[in-house]
Amino acid sequence: MCIQGQSGLPTQSIHTFQLLPCVLVPKPSSLPSSMFKLSTKISELHLKPSPNIAEKLVVVREYDEKKDTEAVEEVERQCEFGSSKGKPSVLMDVMGDPVSRVRQSPSYVMLVAEYGEQKEIVGMIMGSVKTVTRGKKGMSYQFPVYVKVAYILGLRVLPSHRRLGLGTKLAQKLEEWCMQRGAEYSYMATECTNKASINLFTLKCSYVKFRTPTVLVHPVHAHKKPLGSGIRIIRLTSQVAESIYRQVFASSELFPKDIEVILSNKLNLGTFMAMPKKFLNNRDLQKSSDGRLPPSFAILSVWNTKEVFKLQVKGISSLTYAGCVASRVMDTWMPWLKIPSIPNLFSPFGVYFLYGLHMQGKGASGLMKNLCSFAHNMARNDVGCGALVAEVGKWDPVKEGIPHWRKFSWAEDIWCMKRLGTSSNDDEESDWTTPPPSSSVIFVDPRDF
Ligand SMILES: CC(C)(COP(=O)(O)OP(=O)(O)OC[C@H]1O[C@@H](n2cnc3c(N)ncnc32)[C@H](O)[C@@H]1OP(=O)(O)O)[C@@H](O)C(=O)NCCC(=O)NCCS
Repeated sequence: MCIQGQSGLPTQSIHTFQLLPCVLVPKPSSLPSSMFKLSTKISELHLKPSPNIAEKLVVVREYDEKKDTEAVEEVERQCEFGSSKGKPSVLMDVMGDPVSRVRQSPSYVMLVAEYGEQKEIVGMIMGSVKTVTRGKKGMSYQFPVYVKVAYILGLRVLPSHRRLGLGTKLAQKLEEWCMQRGAEYSYMATECTNKASINLFTLKCSYVKFRTPTVLVHPVHAHKKPLGSGIRIIRLTSQVAESIYRQVFASSELFPKDIEVILSNKLNLGTFMAMPKKFLNNRDLQKSSDGRLPPSFAILSVWNTKEVFKLQVKGISSLTYAGCVASRVMDTWMPWLKIPSIPNLFSPFGVYFLYGLHMQGKGASGLMKNLCSFAHNMARNDVGCGALVAEVGKWDPVKEGIPHWRKFSWAEDIWCMKRLGTSSNDDEESDWTTPPPSSSVIFVDPRDF
């Protein structure tokens, strides 16, 4: 999922005004004289600068934790600035660790773009590489088909340095890094309203729109949600959870091969299964090694993003703010009324990401609802946790069982994908990006959230 403060995009006139004096006409000593003359000429004529000139002044290199943290945070802050334009926006605080969002991945990097002689950091991008399933392929319905993919996120360019090709250059350099690590495909996620990002990846980098999963958000109320009396919820060991996940997600898309690493990560708060009480008596899932599952059940895992980043809602009206505060006060004082209150999302808050959501059998949707209520109550007991978020395939039936607030959720997160390299054995048919999805189920890796 893509979360970013940016919603408004700079206009062309802003580019012309900001860029010409401060970017394209640096001190003569910092440029070859021919380039300086050319830059001066452009500024005199008030034309849009050629991206190629800026590109020559940019060096893309790996992020250095010891010296770049402050500069990278500044770029992030400036990209958030001017985002709201009167509309609410969600800001992300990475709590002093700009690479925290990819740190849990097996292989990851952040690249930064340095500009000019001052080596000012003006942009950055992150990526990770992992092995995942790619859905059903040919006759293989039971055995997972794995492929190495790169996930690209966190692309940012300072507003003053945009439309110079820096975003494109960062994306290309990251693709090279990922290909060197064996990635065959690369994908990214963005909001459907982010034209700049969609254009950059589709028009300049040859990505195609790939999937449009749905993001479902539910606020954490002050009251506890009730659980069904005929339902039993059990916590699974990570070994049992792994074996069930490998079974039920074998032919889904993007199920990570290293699922056991995710399940044993400290950010994973557990995997839970809901089933009718009557099925529990004759079944000990924790001991069963033959993979027998109850006739109906729902399963999910909870990932605590609070330790990695915090979110904050900005730009809401004082009337909305007052309404939220009032609902919260009432819900806290009179929990028996079960007022659907909104927590304080206007100060930094954490999120529980629900993943590995699957349900099957009779009444499965009700079981999933109960499981989500259970996760809600976990979040309620965790101070500073403001919302539960899940991201699922647009046509995944599990969607029906996940309670969410429509006004906080969004129906389409745009995922774009590109095939990075082709070998002589590859044919058009084997390209993952072209045929329609072979599965309605997408496993959204919590490390990518
Ligand atoms: C998206 C972003 C990284 C683009 O950076 P950039 O350095 O300006 O990108 P480039 O100069 O390489 O632009 C490449 C192409 O992207 C498209 N593009 C870039 N900005 C655009 C805009 N404001 N509107 C429409 N298309 C845009 C254009 O097709 C552009 O090619 P062109 O300049 O020849 O028309 C930058 O706008 C940014 O930091 N935005 C805020 C954060 C964000 O949205 N990140 C993306 C998260 S996935």
